Amino acid sequence: MYRSHTCGELRESHIGQEVILAGWVQKTRDKGFMIWVDLRDRYGITQLIFDEERTSTALIKKAQALGREFVIQVKGKVIERESKNENLFTGGIEILVKELEILNSSLTPPFTIEDQTDGGEDVRMKYRYLDIRRNPVRNNLMFRHKVSMEVRKYLSDQGFIDVETPYLIKSTPEGARDFVVPSRMNAGQFYALPQSPQTFKQLLMVGGMDKYFQLVKCFRDEDLRADRQPEFTQIDCEMAFVEQEDILQVFEGLTRHLLKEVNGIEVKKFPRMTYDEAMCMYGNDKPDIRFGMKFKELNEVTKHREFKVFNDAELVVGIVIPGGASYTRKEIDALIDWVKRPQVGALGMVYIRCNDDGTHKSSVDKFYDQDDLFQIANTAEAKTGDLICILSGEKNKVRAQLSALRMEVATRLGLRKPDEFAPLWVVDFPLLEWDEETQRYHAMHHPFTSPKPGQLELLDTNPGDVKANAYDLVLNGNEIGGGSIRIHDRSTQEKMFDYLGFTPEQAKAQFGFLMDAFQYGAPPHGGLAFGLDRLVAILGGQETIRDFIAFPKNNAGRDVMIDAPATIDEAQLKELNIKLVSKP
Ligand code: AMO
Repeated sequence: MYRSHTCGELRESHIGQEVILAGWVQKTRDKGFMIWVDLRDRYGITQLIFDEERTSTALIKKAQALGREFVIQVKGKVIERESKNENLFTGGIEILVKELEILNSSLTPPFTIEDQTDGGEDVRMKYRYLDIRRNPVRNNLMFRHKVSMEVRKYLSDQGFIDVETPYLIKSTPEGARDFVVPSRMNAGQFYALPQSPQTFKQLLMVGGMDKYFQLVKCFRDEDLRADRQPEFTQIDCEMAFVEQEDILQVFEGLTRHLLKEVNGIEVKKFPRMTYDEAMCMYGNDKPDIRFGMKFKELNEVTKHREFKVFNDAELVVGIVIPGGASYTRKEIDALIDWVKRPQVGALGMVYIRCNDDGTHKSSVDKFYDQDDLFQIANTAEAKTGDLICILSGEKNKVRAQLSALRMEVATRLGLRKPDEFAPLWVVDFPLLEWDEETQRYHAMHHPFTSPKPGQLELLDTNPGDVKANAYDLVLNGNEIGGGSIRIHDRSTQEKMFDYLGFTPEQAKAQFGFLMDAFQYGAPPHGGLAFGLDRLVAILGGQETIRDFIAFPKNNAGRDVMIDAPATIDEAQLKELNIKLVSKP
């Protein structure tokens, strides 16, 4: 038996018992005749004491040779601790060691395995297995475990069946690039790793599985951000014989269950907002509604003067910063500089201070008198003491810029509280999205999404106006999940592919299997997928998903621990029938 107890288990009630513990040496304190060792495992820390008088000099010598992170096993007696440590559950006792076995030695770790470590991001990623020994990382992984177990439990109880779908597949268009895998047995041909199991889950509905779920790895070759990894996990779900409302109900139920079980928070019915409303009010299809600062459109109230910038603008829109009138000129200038950064891209910002004496001071006093400013402030619903920040220009650009400012200001004001949860559904997404680069429409969600009833005809005349049966779940300004009701008949799917620029041959080559399946009694169906990593991070009060993944990739898509991706040798390339254009 390696151990009778864990390092987090022993209390004063165990005093007098003979125990065996095993774990890692966190630290040692050596007084010469007496040595204390903190022994750590996943469950906690227990103090060991080696004492010349009560044990032996030989044992003291052995203990003196222990280094940080040595793996040891000790036998000893639980005794009362002289100076108790209130911060540890085990702080009332210590183990008077009688036998010590070194199970494995350790090099000195490259950073301290403490909650506050001296190790930088890079070195911790390289030695991720050491980082996982630290409480914050281990706790995140355990938190993830809790969330995923609750998800499985909830969905299984609701009648969902966990079905595994293949990883070696053919490309599914979800908007990112595919990771591809060369096939040795089929020279010159490649599998693609799934960006999601979208077509397979639809085929499971054709197969009569009725309710499917899977916690599944998805792979997308896209630029990385704090909330994106090249491989990530989805809670992927699909249901047959459902309408949008059925899906929203089930997954609102799941989210509410998680908030309750994991965070101990009861949330009322989730608000719903159309995509158009979200864009108008927050400039964003994933608004953070934990705080206000809603957009106020000001074209009408600003256009009666000679201020060309506003008069020529497609949209003049502002937000009100509560209490912002107290900002100094320097602070306001800093905000202006912030919106002018290339990442945000505004050309400038107009501000109006709502002074305590009822007057207004603006950066456009030349064009607007006190009366005008009062009217603008009134339309913006600004109060005395507030600051109005106004941007203008092309509608979509300005909305994105003001949305960025809104989030930045909220962060600075501490309004994005990690322990507050504000979920919402965003519904009625457009079916199509204009892509400047290719100068054509793309499916906003994916090509399997059905238009709202009766809107298919609009495709030929007003494609940008066609709304889809598509919805997103947003939590604290993050897109946690998205889905749609699917097309389930061949002719509509063909029409959609045609519209998206696929020739009939291309559509058949890529998705013939799906359209064939639709001819054999495909039920109406729909579903959604949550990003598990994002969901876990946000429930855990953070936004960087890397911290909740055991072995994540860095921002360059590299695993610096195993040093991947890497070259492969000539023989392997040859076997795969691959010739490199240039040497790496
Ligand atoms: P979608 O592409 O919206 O939908 O993805 C679903 C959810 O997955 C998460 N997500 C990511 N998480 C981490 N890193 C990434 N690179 C990443 N990309 C996406 C997001 C997102 O909301 N097949 C459809 C779902 C459906 O229609 O049922 C799909 O994949 O949280």
